[in-house]
Amino acid sequence: MRAVFITGGTTGIGMELAKLYLSRGWKVGVCGRDRQKFEDSFTTNRDNISFYSVDVSDRINLKAAVTDFSKSIGLDLLIANAGIGYKFKTKIPDFEYSYKMVNINLLGVMYSFEAALDVMIPVGKGQLVAISSIAGYNGLPGVSAYSATKAAVQKYAESLHLDLKQFNIAVTTICPGFVETPLTDSNNHTMPFIMKAPKAAVKIARAIEKKKMIYAFPFIMASFVRLISILPRTWYRFIIMRKALNYSKD
Ligand SMILES: NC(=O)c1ccc[n+]([C@@H]2O[C@H](COP(=O)([O-])OP(=O)(O)OC[C@H]3O[C@@H](n4cnc5c(N)ncnc54)[C@H](OP(=O)(O)O)[C@@H]3O)[C@@H](O)[C@H]2O)c1
Repeated sequence: MRAVFITGGTTGIGMELAKLYLSRGWKVGVCGRDRQKFEDSFTTNRDNISFYSVDVSDRINLKAAVTDFSKSIGLDLLIANAGIGYKFKTKIPDFEYSYKMVNINLLGVMYSFEAALDVMIPVGKGQLVAISSIAGYNGLPGVSAYSATKAAVQKYAESLHLDLKQFNIAVTTICPGFVETPLTDSNNHTMPFIMKAPKAAVKIARAIEKKKMIYAFPFIMASFVRLISILPRTWYRFIIMRKALNYSKD
């Protein structure tokens, strides 16, 4: 039996990944801040799943949860998925919320990787996965800290991919486009090529299995953001400030 720990595994993409790995016979650990979300999402088939009520920005308690989960059969895979987004695209950022976002979306990934590596390095095997976003390829208007944290996560994981090869530990970065989850439910801007969460989970699991360094999807959306990320920035500004891609308010 193999074991996977998924941060933010109680709703959305993390929940679908947890269900997928459960169906494949894995032992699954999930964490989140709200136990009720776990109770609501996993009503049956709970023999192989454990819930940890932990905030990923709490380094000590996250480490304790990952250590506890891995003590019986170890840890093959850690998916640092927990993240928050902005409800609205605004010109003036909500700074308080942006700092919280850095703690969860960036530090939460670093704390998760640290906890997993404590288990993986001594045994010389394992895989770390960071859920970034296609929002990390460019500085998007109205979601500054989200773009910044997702870009930072991409680069952080890219560095570790190089560093951890010698320990036989793979590192994969996943950059989804829009996926239907509670995170995107409240968005009132256009979400091109939005995908159902179960379909996204299958694509993510496949990329993890192939130990891809980075996987961005859906293809057309990912190709578009990659292309605009290499354009001269004046061209980028011209494209991105079109109304359809702009702010939720004013
Ligand atoms: N949906 C998309 O279109 C999309 C696109 C690109 C990237 N992503 C990324 O994919 C990841 C999952 O997003 P999602 O759309 O599935 O969102 P979601 O449905 O809102 O799920 C987020 C999960 O993270 C948990 N969580 C949030 N903050 C946490 C914290 N501080 N500590 C521990 N758990 C926390 C939530 O549970 P609690 O609230 O109970 O803590 C929940 O289980 C995020 O990193 C997001 O940025 C999503």
